Amino acid sequence: MQVSLLNYLGLKHDIMVNKPLKRHPALQPLSREHHFALLLCLKLRQGLELEIDPNRIGAYLVKMWEHQLALHFDIEERFVFPILGEDHAYVKEAISDHRLLKRLILKEPFTIKSINRIEERLENHVRFEERKLFPLVQSVASDLQWQIVEQEHDKAIPELMWHDAFWVKPVRKEIKTLEEISFLVDTFYQRVQSDELIGPIFNELLDGRWEEHLKKMYTFWQTLLLEEHTYFGSPFPPHATMPISAAHFQAWLSIWKSTVYEFFKGDKADEAVYRGEKMAQVFLSKIKYFKNQNNTH
Ligand code: HEM
Repeated sequence: MQVSLLNYLGLKHDIMVNKPLKRHPALQPLSREHHFALLLCLKLRQGLELEIDPNRIGAYLVKMWEHQLALHFDIEERFVFPILGEDHAYVKEAISDHRLLKRLILKEPFTIKSINRIEERLENHVRFEERKLFPLVQSVASDLQWQIVEQEHDKAIPELMWHDAFWVKPVRKEIKTLEEISFLVDTFYQRVQSDELIGPIFNELLDGRWEEHLKKMYTFWQTLLLEEHTYFGSPFPPHATMPISAAHFQAWLSIWKSTVYEFFKGDKADEAVYRGEKMAQVFLSKIKYFKNQNNTH
């Protein structure tokens, strides 16, 4: 993975082949962090290719800033750049990169464009430091200066563990088992809960009863999709008096459809979407019918 990533970025020669032999030990933790920064660039590019919501990518960027980038920049600015002096053109360039990246990550709203800029700037910045700035530092630093760098930063900051691997393309499977149904239902309702329009309705009506609802919905979809008859309820009655109209059903369907097709494919996935659409239609016309009845009586 490491070699192919660096190959891909055209940095194999610089980082994998030359550097471990040549890079001064005092700079090795920083170089290792450069490697994590390149991995970050790759993840950003993959996230953009997979059309992931920029805010989802942004959440990771902010965490990476706090976990690694801010600290890495600070160490370089306090202990490495002074070896060349603040007036050196390389140092000026590196500091201006740091400032720009900080602004793009912490101050600007995340968009496809801003993430593209962060990715490009960070990759160029790493290339610049690895190819120009670090070799120059290495040729002029004194023993005392090396000692200081080593004392202040003797280990690379460990890689950040992140729960949301947005850069991994999900492998879409057929829906075959109850585990897959439970996963689909859980993921769907997690997304429903954070939807602005329908989230509050579900949260209010299911306050303290989410687990019970999820278990019931596993059996509902298990019955429809796997033909294992474990659901014995009546789907419509609880919806009859809910404050829901066409827009709510549209939001429900859009989350349902995108969740199903993000993780699944095949006949059962199509069936899940089709059943959702049909039931939404039936529920909506029944709700309208009940409303009219109530208005005329
Ligand atoms: C915006 C639209 C919808 C909202 C706000 C909504 C909300 C809810 C809520 C709050 C419950 C729990 C009721 C309770 O236990 O008190 C429920 C149950 C249920 N919903 Fe929906 N729902 C919506 C659309 C749908 C659709 C389109 C389907 C069809 C796939 C569906 C299928 C079910 C089923 C099967 C139950 C369990 C009924 C039972 O046996 O108790 N819902 N819904």
